[in-house]
Amino acid sequence: MGQIIACANQKGGVGKTTTVVNLSTYLALAGDSVLVIDLDPQGNTTSGFGLDRSEIKHSVYEAIIEDARVTDLIVPTEVPGLSIVPSSISLAGAEVELAPLPQRERRLARILTDLVATYDYIILDCPPSLGLLTVNALTAADAVVIPIQCEYYALEGLSQLIATINLVRNHLNPDLAIKGVVLTMYDPRTNLSSEVDAEVRKHLGSAVFDTIIPRSVRLSEAPSYGLPIALYRPDSKGAEAYAALAAEMRERDGRPAPISRTEAGEAAPKSSRSTRTSDGGAR
Ligand SMILES: Nc1ncnc2c1ncn2[C@@H]1O[C@H](COP(=O)(O)OP(=O)(O)OP(=O)(O)O)[C@@H](O)[C@H]1O
Ligand SMILES: [Mg+2]
Repeated sequence: MGQIIACANQKGGVGKTTTVVNLSTYLALAGDSVLVIDLDPQGNTTSGFGLDRSEIKHSVYEAIIEDARVTDLIVPTEVPGLSIVPSSISLAGAEVELAPLPQRERRLARILTDLVATYDYIILDCPPSLGLLTVNALTAADAVVIPIQCEYYALEGLSQLIATINLVRNHLNPDLAIKGVVLTMYDPRTNLSSEVDAEVRKHLGSAVFDTIIPRSVRLSEAPSYGLPIALYRPDSKGAEAYAALAAEMRERDGRPAPISRTEAGEAAPKSSRSTRTSDGGAR
């Protein structure tokens, strides 16, 4: 059985989409079968994989609101083993349209039931709100990944997110786990980044992934080429960091690291851990 992972934080611009696009890509490149579902009407994950939003005829909206078969909405990406259910602007109305529907918090969970056996990971990109789309994601998910940007007020809003997760646990999805908190846009040249790192780890301990995502110009450029970092600049610090995050997540899930061709004749597969960088990560 596969795992459904929601990437959520109601704060805007903290790196949810960048994490979904690149984590899912490295999971697929490690051999996992991955489906990404773009639940954000902004559609940044959809365009991040190079899909032209103006040409998208069918989106996750049809499945959630109009009961279309989700399997009819899946499109392949350039990453082998990775497909996506795209978003469309019609999703912007979904929050309102969901409200009167029966089982409105469970629409996505119901749709995904038949897909969990097909994929190793189903990864959900949430919009920056705690509205019904995010609640649907948390209700459908086995676990949540929470990106936190290394900036002033980093922890602001986190208690609200945790409260929502607890509400969902109490009423809709008792088994919802926190997969991990991932620190994003870390700039080792600033005291602020290391202070946020220390503060977040003080509060959340082992829930925080060892891997830290550095601030990287290449990561912010990649979406404009419609490419995940692995296909745009695989040698960049940002690429190394997301590869390490995928490896750390697979390790937490008890999935052995794939053995590369050069290592094939040797012994144990290597695992990558923390990717704190010393040069600001802007290569
Ligand atoms: N590690 C990074 N280094 C540099 N820029 C980054 C990094 N991560 C994300 N960005 C940039 O920061 C902006 C916000 O990132 P992203 O879209 O991933 O956040 P988000 O949480 O999905 O935003 P929203 O809440 O609007 O959906 C984007 O322009 C993105 O390219
Ligand atoms: Mg986003």
